[in-house]
Amino acid sequence: MISSSKRDELIVSKIRNGTVIDHIPAGRALAVLRILGIRGSEGYRVALVMNVESKKIGRKDIVKIEDRVIDEKEASLITLIAPSATINIIRDYVVTEKRHLEVPKQIRGLIKCPNPQCITNNDVEAESRFTTISIKPLKLKCEYCEIYITEDDVIRQIL
Ligand code: CTP
Ligand code: ZN
Repeated sequence: MISSSKRDELIVSKIRNGTVIDHIPAGRALAVLRILGIRGSEGYRVALVMNVESKKIGRKDIVKIEDRVIDEKEASLITLIAPSATINIIRDYVVTEKRHLEVPKQIRGLIKCPNPQCITNNDVEAESRFTTISIKPLKLKCEYCEIYITEDDVIRQIL
């Protein structure tokens, strides 16, 4: 029998340097690419693996990007739509760092409040600020107008 990790390798080879975002819930790889601002014309070598078997989460997506690192802001946004994801830093073919993501308790300036009356949508100086109420399912509360938003709202903003 061929193991699932061996099968992934049949789909896409290892990378030399860059970042592998693994254990993304199946179907979310494109949203992850959006968060990273990758649309194809930037010239990064990117590999997408979608809907492959995962020992941990049923089915998963994987995104591999050569010669690109991921900053804190991008990592925080990825946690919101892919809390199971791991970010692997690859140097010379070796995984030199493996980060397990955690949904932050407070999320500032990353997502918009969907309430048009909210002060964060009417004052250029005001930065959006959400508190995490629950992680599974994701539920965030706007600190200003107290509206609740879900994972679907976040995904809709990203896509
Ligand atoms: N990977 C890659 N190129 C490399 C090294 C690793 O594309 N040069 C990919 C692997 O295919 C895997 C991910 O990076 O999808 C993490 O690699 P590794 O830690 O070796 O795999 P696992 O031990 O299966 O990871 P985990 O424990 O996170 O499931
Ligand atoms: Zn608000």
